[in-house]
Amino acid sequence: MNTSNPDTVSNAVDRKFCVAPMLDWTDRHYRYFARLISKNAVLYTEMITTGALIHGDRDRYLQFNTQESPLALQLGGSNPDELSVCAKMAEDLGYDEVNLNVGCPSDRVQNNMIGACLMGHPELVAECIDAMQNTVSIPVTVKHRIGIDDQDSYEELHHFVKTIAETGCSTFIVHARKAILQGLSPKENRDIPPLKYDVAYQLKKDFPPLEIIVNGGIKTIDECLGHTEHLDGVMVGREAYQNPWLLNQVDQALYGESESSLTRQQVLEAMLPYIEEEMKKGTYLGHITRHILGIFHSMPGGRKFRRYISENAHKPGATIDVLKNALAIVTSEQAAALEAQTISQN
Ligand SMILES: Cc1cc2nc3c(=O)[nH]c(=O)nc-3n(C[C@H](O)[C@H](O)[C@H](O)COP(=O)(O)O)c2cc1C
Repeated sequence: MNTSNPDTVSNAVDRKFCVAPMLDWTDRHYRYFARLISKNAVLYTEMITTGALIHGDRDRYLQFNTQESPLALQLGGSNPDELSVCAKMAEDLGYDEVNLNVGCPSDRVQNNMIGACLMGHPELVAECIDAMQNTVSIPVTVKHRIGIDDQDSYEELHHFVKTIAETGCSTFIVHARKAILQGLSPKENRDIPPLKYDVAYQLKKDFPPLEIIVNGGIKTIDECLGHTEHLDGVMVGREAYQNPWLLNQVDQALYGESESSLTRQQVLEAMLPYIEEEMKKGTYLGHITRHILGIFHSMPGGRKFRRYISENAHKPGATIDVLKNALAIVTSEQAAALEAQTISQN
């Protein structure tokens, strides 16, 4: 067991606002884009299994841009030695945190004892966390559900958190719904089991020294602020991806910084050199632009922007001009909307 005592919440990474790990979504290109919008949000990679890192193309899985920091690598696995090896890779490369996935309900991962099924094995999770903590000095955190199947009593959850906290682990990211391991798809498991934020609040009451971050269904900054009255932070997934401009309020509302003066257009202009650099290295334009489609969510020209990029970025030979043209379209749509508004006011 790690002898450190979780008397105080670890402050090395300030998790008041985190962007959730999302397979296929929070890749390095999305993260670079998100970081341009919020300097402080803690970003999580997609889940990477220990098997992929140990036997696969680890350089490709682990590559990131130093500007993405604060950045956490999320691991999937349940073998303490393998997890330690992978945590060390993350630390050596400069990741700021390693997070263990104890929330993913997919069948594929259950067969390998990865993800939410581990909630039924708190001692094994504790062994995994302990092994990683003994190997690295960056924080090791857990992302978990509030229960699985019929193991969904508060007592079981309390036992899970207590068992892991005894290793010295002090950060728990709580997706505030249970997972149903048989019969619901991963997508349904993100929507159907009801959200129970009060369970996360109760954990904080029962374990005040622990850092408890709540996740699930959070869509607005006001909701984030509401949760932070009870807890240490929030983690936002789908909304941060589909409506990335939400991140624009994060530094001011949650980290107390002065108001951001960046516009959406400026963020996209700041993406241009990155995209050009990536394309020189062989990245397809569409692999980056797919992550920025939501930036004009609910804004005049937003749909046209999205459609133009979706229709053109994947064409063979597509160049950065696709994004420049889409920007021009949205700029002229916004000017027209402004003009129409001025006329209607007069
Ligand atoms: C496309 C997609 C992929 C996801 N992949 C992961 C993952 O790799 N690891 C993980 O812990 N959770 C994953 N999740 C779950 C999210 O991290 C988060 O817990 C869930 O979406 C609930 O938060 P939200 O309501 O803010 O989206 C994924 C969610 C989505 C939508």
